[in-house]
Amino acid sequence: MGFSWVNIIALAQFENRKMLYKNPNAPIEKRIADLMKRMTIEEKVGQLNQLNAGTLTGPAAPLGNKAPVMQEIRDGKVGSYLNLEGAAYTLKHQKVAVEESRLGIPLLFAKDVIHGYKTIFPIPLAEACSWDLKAIEQNASVASAEATAAGLHWTFAPMCDISTDPRWGRVMEGAGEDPYLGGLIGAARVRGFQGDLSDGKHLMACVKHFAAYGAVEAGKEYGHVDVSRFALWNKYLPPYKAAIEAGAATIMNSFNVFEGVPSTANVYLNKTILKDKFKFKGFAISDWDTYTEMINHGYAANNQDALAKAINGGGMMEMNSSISIQYLPQLIKEGKVSIKVLDEAVKRILYYKFKLGLFDNSYRYSNEAREKSESLSASNRAIARKAACSSMVLLKNEKELLPLKTNTKVALIGYYAKSKADMFDFWVAKGDYNQAVSMFEGLSAKFPNLKYSEGYSSDATTTDSLINAALEVAKNADVLLVNIGLSGNKAGEDRSLANIKIPLGQQRLLTELRKTGKPIVALVSSGRPMVLTQITGLADAILQCWIPGTETGNALADVLTGAYNPSAKTVMSFPVDEGQIPVYYNYFNTGRPTSADGSGNWFARYRDIPNEALFPFGYGLSYTTFAYSDLKTDKTTFSKSDIVNVNITVKNTGKYDGGEVVQLYIRDLAASYIRPVKELKAFEKVALKVGEEKQVRFALTANDFSFYDMDGNTLLESGDFEIYVGGSSSNVSKFDLKLIK
Ligand code: GLC
Repeated sequence: MGFSWVNIIALAQFENRKMLYKNPNAPIEKRIADLMKRMTIEEKVGQLNQLNAGTLTGPAAPLGNKAPVMQEIRDGKVGSYLNLEGAAYTLKHQKVAVEESRLGIPLLFAKDVIHGYKTIFPIPLAEACSWDLKAIEQNASVASAEATAAGLHWTFAPMCDISTDPRWGRVMEGAGEDPYLGGLIGAARVRGFQGDLSDGKHLMACVKHFAAYGAVEAGKEYGHVDVSRFALWNKYLPPYKAAIEAGAATIMNSFNVFEGVPSTANVYLNKTILKDKFKFKGFAISDWDTYTEMINHGYAANNQDALAKAINGGGMMEMNSSISIQYLPQLIKEGKVSIKVLDEAVKRILYYKFKLGLFDNSYRYSNEAREKSESLSASNRAIARKAACSSMVLLKNEKELLPLKTNTKVALIGYYAKSKADMFDFWVAKGDYNQAVSMFEGLSAKFPNLKYSEGYSSDATTTDSLINAALEVAKNADVLLVNIGLSGNKAGEDRSLANIKIPLGQQRLLTELRKTGKPIVALVSSGRPMVLTQITGLADAILQCWIPGTETGNALADVLTGAYNPSAKTVMSFPVDEGQIPVYYNYFNTGRPTSADGSGNWFARYRDIPNEALFPFGYGLSYTTFAYSDLKTDKTTFSKSDIVNVNITVKNTGKYDGGEVVQLYIRDLAASYIRPVKELKAFEKVALKVGEEKQVRFALTANDFSFYDMDGNTLLESGDFEIYVGGSSSNVSKFDLKLIK
């Protein structure tokens, strides 16, 4: 009897039913259970192993960071690769995993797609200054579209670390100093990166670095962290929590310790908080080598001890150090790690491989055609350009020097203004600075009378001849545009700086140019708030450009010509001096608060510098002006079930249409734990035409007045509150409110 097609299909379906995990119609949970029944311990452990296959983003470990070995993939020894990207290259390796390994379990390909993949957006700190959550979500979505076309499934972003120390190089990756805003932005980035993970064009997000990495002592990279549970719950955890609640698939532990125990193995962080309190259902990945680094920390005696502590402390997937694959089967045999713990980790990892559709359409992400059409597309560049425009913070604009008419004779001075390499930062994935638009290119296209001079060298030092050349160019100019600050490659990981003043050579250059009496615009390039105190008097206008990415020059031209009216507000305070750090708006009053006018004695202050930030959180100018009036609320006392409606009228009283971020802060005057002098609790970005006014409404609920105790319990206590509303944390109107039981 000949075999009919019907028999063959029936047999295949029978086979498939037997291999339930391969049945796309079966529920994911059943497919996982079926697959795990078939896996050996070694194959399970293989899922925990992530190897680095390309760019080094940490010290090269003995076993890590080598070109992928196909036999390892065939043997099921690798669950994921970091820095293995490209449609063709990922396809080649995925095929081996799916078609040549015993169970055909696909690989996860991950990369730090922090602010773009090929089209590079402004650094996250800059993007946060837009306060535009929709745009931030869209930016992440564009990054995902480009990265997934190149075969990537997973980004190690958003970074949700709160930091108040601009000496730390990684402030560039976050969303500034405020927990509430940091949480909203972290959640927006998760939504943008992930979508619902169903279309093959979105990446799994990774909330990092859990937890409180931004609290490193003195901003020193990889430094010691010692924060209280009070600070942990009220300052550091909220952004991670918000990003997890937004559905983040994964989380990454931090390099630092909490209460003397490395985050990697910290049961309080990974079980009490992450699993029990936050109900996190995704999977955790270690940061680079943090398993074996517990030996350096003095928390583990050797690799086996480190591995047992990591896995028993909540560790799941291991990045780069590869000790799970070496020692975990033995530790399980010895009973030092339970098979249940291993199974839980593997189950969570497999869930996302199924969720991404990798078992059913394993090659959907490695799409060469899409890789070509998506990358650096005109629409992606346009979105990046708008993101860059809305990230630049106008810090000063004396005598309305800006915006400039395009027929203005401008002198553009500064080495970095023409250097493409120096305008990209450490975390630019596959961004190519040669594809970027430099300040020089963007401005030359708009200002036909532009003349250029270097002014200083690549290391920011200057010489008499460089200064004289700049003075020569300045002679025939109406306005001097002077790009100062740091190269983009001084921003990011392992880039902490003790000195964050404007480099002396640039200060000298500005001083000499100031003597010409010509109007000066300082264009500050940096991945952190620098100390600008020494140059504020040397420039009539100051624009904090941050590190704006691929569309730098076009965006800068849009802002300087007024095609885009700056609307950004800084999300991180600018210190007067390094000695003032940490300086932040939501500080605590202390028992001897700094007196407003600094008069008298015996109060919290420095004797040798001002006690306020040079530019505070929430501050940013526009080319127009805004007037606030009619601040009112519908009640002066409220109970826990009430909504407190706050209204304020904002009017555009200047000469340009513009955007304003209206901010609402509260202060709890007396509580069972001290509360900051201000806490951001709401904001709205409004667009106002010249002369237009709008009533902005905020609806406050009891949640806005609550805080956490040391164990993460929410407290809401009756008493007196102050409500502040305005255009920056330091320029607000106030009214009083009383919460009654
Ligand atoms: C780095 C960073 C982390 C990054 C990882 C992979 O050390 O701390 O943020 O995602 O390694 O590159």
